[in-house]
Amino acid sequence: MKKHTTVDDCRIINIRKYFDNRGYLSVIEGDVDVPFEIKRVYYLYMVPEVARGEHAHKMLQQLMIATSGSVHVMIDDGTNKKKFVLDKPWKGLLIAPGLWRTLDDFSGGAVCMVLASAKYEKEDYIRDYNEFLKFKNND
Ligand code: TYD
Repeated sequence: MKKHTTVDDCRIINIRKYFDNRGYLSVIEGDVDVPFEIKRVYYLYMVPEVARGEHAHKMLQQLMIATSGSVHVMIDDGTNKKKFVLDKPWKGLLIAPGLWRTLDDFSGGAVCMVLASAKYEKEDYIRDYNEFLKFKNND
């Protein structure tokens, strides 16, 4: 269980990009551009004016990218919060395990892609905020 992580364990990475007169190409290789093997990719799109996420993961590591448009991501470690704005297709947010995340302010046409270190596991989720605080504060 990665319960001792903080907001400072999340960071923006510049995804490598290749440019020529045909435009840009960006690439992410598991264990090279992100510190984990990529086991799953999912993406959010056509999101209305709502907040998504609002959960934490016990073990999962993720890289989140607004491949189109923009999205705001609030990371919360139970003590501190840090807001990240994803607004470029080459800007990725690496999210450590054990952190509460809320996504909102999706722009029109936004697509938020997430690369994840594991397959979907319901048991890895903490969806109740009080339970999350207990998870962070219990030794
Ligand atoms: P949910 O976790 O509620 O999305 P968000 O992260 O925005 O809060 O997921 C929505 C639905 O999609 C839910 O029924 C579970 C399902 N889902 C999968 O089946 N596999 C996945 O990899 C993910 C991320 C979600």
